[in-house]
Amino acid sequence: MKVLSNRQLCRGHYFLRLGGRKFPETKPGQFVQLQCRVPGPQAGWTEVAVSDGGWPELTGRELTQGEPILRRPLSLAGRRDTEFDVELDIIYSVVGKGTEWLATAREHAEISLLGPLGNVFAVSGDKPRAALVGGGVGIPPMIYLASAMQTAGKDAVAFCGARSADMLPVTLAPGVEAAADGRPSASISQFGQFGVDSVIATDDGSLGWKGFVSEPLAVWLDGLANPADDAVVYTCGPEPMMRAVAEICIERGVACQVSLERHMACGMGTCQSCVCKTRSEAEEGWSYKLCCTDGPVFDASQIIW
Ligand SMILES: Cc1cc2nc3c(=O)[nH]c(=O)nc-3n(C[C@H](O)[C@H](O)[C@H](O)COP(=O)(O)OP(=O)(O)OC[C@H]3O[C@@H](n4cnc5c(N)ncnc54)[C@H](O)[C@@H]3O)c2cc1C
Ligand code: FES
Repeated sequence: MKVLSNRQLCRGHYFLRLGGRKFPETKPGQFVQLQCRVPGPQAGWTEVAVSDGGWPELTGRELTQGEPILRRPLSLAGRRDTEFDVELDIIYSVVGKGTEWLATAREHAEISLLGPLGNVFAVSGDKPRAALVGGGVGIPPMIYLASAMQTAGKDAVAFCGARSADMLPVTLAPGVEAAADGRPSASISQFGQFGVDSVIATDDGSLGWKGFVSEPLAVWLDGLANPADDAVVYTCGPEPMMRAVAEICIERGVACQVSLERHMACGMGTCQSCVCKTRSEAEEGWSYKLCCTDGPVFDASQIIW
């Protein structure tokens, strides 16, 4: 697909919009494997000689200078279809070789992606409310999920956490206060466009609630007449955050779906690099599941953290 725009959202985070003639159907929760380098062979690459029974002689630039050979998994933050084109949104933070390269991709550049991959968030038919809890780069899949909540007619609130205001990868709606007491408001444009109010939490208190995003979630759940019957919680972000969210939900009998992130090489069930431990009927009481094909979305009660 082609880069339509690639702009900085906040400190270290970028918003990438890709466009193309077509792309298979996608759903919130799914991700793509993005090739973070110019497609095709590069200048300086050499053929690797492999002698019979011996090891390959690794001399090419792609092997010796840390070229990001493997594709990088990134969640879909949104999708729009027009009569002729498809647009996909991705929000990413720059953490290493691949994302450093991605931040340099200019308008019209070609980027190769594989997908959609992984399973999807299940939008519950019988619960009228939803909490979408994202931390850092766990926020992007929640934006895509917000569009599905609007379509399904759910009363959803987004809870977004970051270390500080300048690391919150969203656009703040002008003139709308991000309340320090955890009251939802239309403070984040990406959620507001789908009629979803937001609660912002920052670790240092520079915007919204001071503390972890799981705290205002607990307050919101406790304010519902019957949280177990009324609400479903969806979450993606750093593992300690998701674990805290899962525990809050389990204590209150609230259904919770977590989207796990693991290091992924293939993204499609071959390399076994992305296992997570889950409860099972096996003799040991647990078994491994693959985050890329069984997940990334799991029922929180299944996960052994
Ligand atoms: C299903 C899935 C969805 C994801 N969605 C997003 C997204 O929407 N936006 C986003 O910014 N990131 C997302 N990530 C994480 C993203 O894939 C990594 O940040 C990226 O691959 C890093 O590539 P790099 O070459 O820049 O960094 P590398 O040079 O490969 O690594 C730099 C640092 O990041 C750490 N790292 C790399 N991959 C991961 C990972 N999967 N989980 C935790 N730490 C990692 C490494 O340990 C290292 O410390 C997602 C990961 C998964 C598995
Ligand atoms: S990433 Fe290869 S099996 Fe999951």
